[in-house]
Amino acid sequence: MRRKLVIGNWKMNLTPTEASAMIERLVPAITQPKADVAICPSFVALLRAKKLLERSPIKLGAQDVHWSESGAFTGSVSPNMLKDAGVSLCIVGHSETRGRFGKLETPEFTVPYFAESDQTVNLKIKALLYCSIAPVLCVGETLAEREDGKTDEVIAKQLDGALEGIDAEELQDFVVAYEPVWAIGTGKVCDTPEAERVCATIRDYLRTACGNDVADRTRILYGGSVKAANAKELFAQPNIDGGLVGGASLNPQEFAQIAASV
Ligand code: PGA
Repeated sequence: MRRKLVIGNWKMNLTPTEASAMIERLVPAITQPKADVAICPSFVALLRAKKLLERSPIKLGAQDVHWSESGAFTGSVSPNMLKDAGVSLCIVGHSETRGRFGKLETPEFTVPYFAESDQTVNLKIKALLYCSIAPVLCVGETLAEREDGKTDEVIAKQLDGALEGIDAEELQDFVVAYEPVWAIGTGKVCDTPEAERVCATIRDYLRTACGNDVADRTRILYGGSVKAANAKELFAQPNIDGGLVGGASLNPQEFAQIAASV
């Protein structure tokens, strides 16, 4: 039986001071959760968060990572740095960091500013597994891809790229988040039967590619406008093992309510 998992992705919100205040409100609200619960603050808030979460069941996650151990990678953070900062899981391949969506639009030009690809996602997953940090791999289609009937094909390609060269035995603690790009931060939630169908398709993919053990133990989350009002129904689905929550995780009461929806 998979234990449900609810992750708050704080994105580029909350200064370290604000993040501390938020954690001080979350800790008493989430004392004996029925699910695993984690928050992913910005890099600069991790150390304070680690301290504040010392006696809490809430786990600490990061929003991104570089795949190298150290070196001349200005602006980057390595998996062993995250490990030392108390991180036990890390988001990779979020649509906001994948190259095809991470674009800075100005009247004169469009510049890719994150350029995450299936290849870099793959390198990051390998580096995280090596450091015993659970990767939370985000996959999902754009609205145009959904309208073209390409949802399953796009996700299979993202999974192929992400898992290239990784043995099933290495995937002990691995999480996939199905995040339809058109549902992120838009208030448009994927309807429950369709979210369940895609999560079941992801599990079938894992069964074929990595075997029964990986398919049965991997937690597959839904993400995209999850709120207290829709979490219960989503999390009750057999193949939806919890949620990756953006906007609603910035409200401590709402996030605690979502975590209690399992
Ligand atoms: P949202 O974001 O809940 O604000 O839609 C989810 C995510 O991007 O992980």
